[in-house]
Amino acid sequence: MLYDVLEGLSGRQKTLPSRLLYDARGSDLFEDITVLPEYYPTRTERAILTEAAPDLSRRIGAGAVLVEYGAGAWVKTRILLDALEAPAGYVPIDVSDDMLAKTKPLLQQDYPDLPIHPVVGNFLVPPPLPDIDPRARRVGFFPGSTIGNLDDADIETFLAGAAEELGPDGLLVLGVDLKKSPDILIPAYDDAQGVTADFNRNLLVRINRELGADFNLDAFRHEARWNEAESRMEMHLVSLADQSVTIGGRRFDFAAGETIHTENSRKFDQAQIERLLAASPWQISHDYRDSKDLFSVLLLERK
Ligand code: AVJ
Repeated sequence: MLYDVLEGLSGRQKTLPSRLLYDARGSDLFEDITVLPEYYPTRTERAILTEAAPDLSRRIGAGAVLVEYGAGAWVKTRILLDALEAPAGYVPIDVSDDMLAKTKPLLQQDYPDLPIHPVVGNFLVPPPLPDIDPRARRVGFFPGSTIGNLDDADIETFLAGAAEELGPDGLLVLGVDLKKSPDILIPAYDDAQGVTADFNRNLLVRINRELGADFNLDAFRHEARWNEAESRMEMHLVSLADQSVTIGGRRFDFAAGETIHTENSRKFDQAQIERLLAASPWQISHDYRDSKDLFSVLLLERK
């Protein structure tokens, strides 16, 4: 983590890796974000999944193994598990050991007969799947438009790795946030209650605590920006003054107004989706959407 932070702050545009947003406090704040009135993705995706569940279940068939990339979206996972006919197993893959250990017993309580095999690992480098029936169909699940945090190269890596791991008969249920007016996007990433601002600034709290840095938390403000050229929302932390910060014995200078870029959240249009899939082993089997085209849940099958 120290290396990534020093490297990110050494460039001309300072950056910090968005995955560092999710310590215990950051994960709690993200949960709070998902129920904000302005943050449409979570509730929209959940509604799409609920409506699509019977059709998804029919297309997937009985006895499938569900493989989730990134864990923690338990509400959405349950929608799928409840709809699937006799699922043969559930494999959540997550970098956080804690998260998997904490939530497995909760889920197991509700699905006593379901084999649950958590795997600790980074889904960009698909870890080997546990011992599951090799004849069972594997269905990947990557909700939340987390794919929007990745650049093109990482998306290509992920889609190829998932195809390899899920096999020729595999399916992938992929949540994708769609391009829309900045009038909707900016409030979604800069809510009136300031929860997203706390979520963003918590990155500095974490770096102070874990790396002994001396960020002055009152000297940075949250900013949500729409970048039209890249079709993405960006989170930045804007330095409110000329100041310097010391981390791991190194000093970093900030000019007033200079920013640390902390997250990209890409918003896709149809052409972009098609371009990414063209470079992958996957094609669209079905596209489920809400009536306002805010969000898309894609069922992907192998080409
Ligand atoms: C969980 C990464 C998909 O990008 O919308 C929410 C995280 N950042 N508000 C997103 C987030 C600011 C979220 N993802």
